Amino acid sequence: MGEVSLEKLLQSKKYRDVCPDTVRRVWGECTKKYKKPKDVDKAAREALHGITGAFLTPAEAREIAWAMQAWAVGGRTDAQLENVLNKHASTRERLPIPEMDALYARIFEITGKTDRVLDLACGINPIYLGARGIKATGVDISQTVVGFINTFRDSYGMPVEAICADLLCPDAIPRERFDVALLFKALPLLERQRSGAAADVMGAIDAKYIVASFPTRTLGGRNVGMAAHYAEWMAGHLPRDRAVAGRFETGNELFYILKEI
Ligand SMILES: C[S@@+](CC[C@H](N)C(=O)[O-])C[C@H]1O[C@@H](n2cnc3c(N)ncnc32)[C@H](O)[C@@H]1O
Repeated sequence: MGEVSLEKLLQSKKYRDVCPDTVRRVWGECTKKYKKPKDVDKAAREALHGITGAFLTPAEAREIAWAMQAWAVGGRTDAQLENVLNKHASTRERLPIPEMDALYARIFEITGKTDRVLDLACGINPIYLGARGIKATGVDISQTVVGFINTFRDSYGMPVEAICADLLCPDAIPRERFDVALLFKALPLLERQRSGAAADVMGAIDAKYIVASFPTRTLGGRNVGMAAHYAEWMAGHLPRDRAVAGRFETGNELFYILKEI
């Protein structure tokens, strides 16, 4: 294995796609737990493997790039948009497009219509928003998904942008005011990365509404009581300065709309 160091980990091919701040953060957390550099390196690699385990594979990323091109040159139809969103597990579960439209109609019915959204731990969700003419600023630790969203802006003129940043690091959340901030399928995942992270992230958001969602089915489609589990989780993590303005379930996702009080 040779010498281990943060610099080596940052340069490793395996974690090239992950935000460098995440690698530094995880390394720093591991140096607090372990003394020997080899133990730090092993623990950091294990933690990073857990965080990046659900990243897009290179083959999936290529398919998204092709599907985006097909959308751009083929008339920008909903069928082609669906083909893009179908390539990422999280957006796939909200399809078909009419169901996704209905989901956002339900959200905006409570928050009021907005033309500018902050999308945290966004995946490729801003592609849907941009295609519907909603300005979106995404934040994610995957350089690949951030690249897709910025390509959607730069090459196809869509009103979206994304920043590669780690929500558990300082200054990752834009300091601007938004009407609506999305945290779709993100809070428990952030809390697993660091205890207390869900509260820290929600506390740092400057938005009238936070819309948080939770999966209610396993990736295999089974219903194993996840809705009840996450309802309890949300009750225990509700920020003091927010009240529940809405709560509803779709086929496989539980949504909470949290309003500033
Ligand atoms: C389950 S996916 C959800 C994607 C999107 N919110 C959706 O529901 O369509 C989780 C996303 O969170 C991102 N992520 C994980 N840890 C993060 C962190 N610490 N900071 C920012 N993004 C993170 C991942 O790269 C991934 O794109």
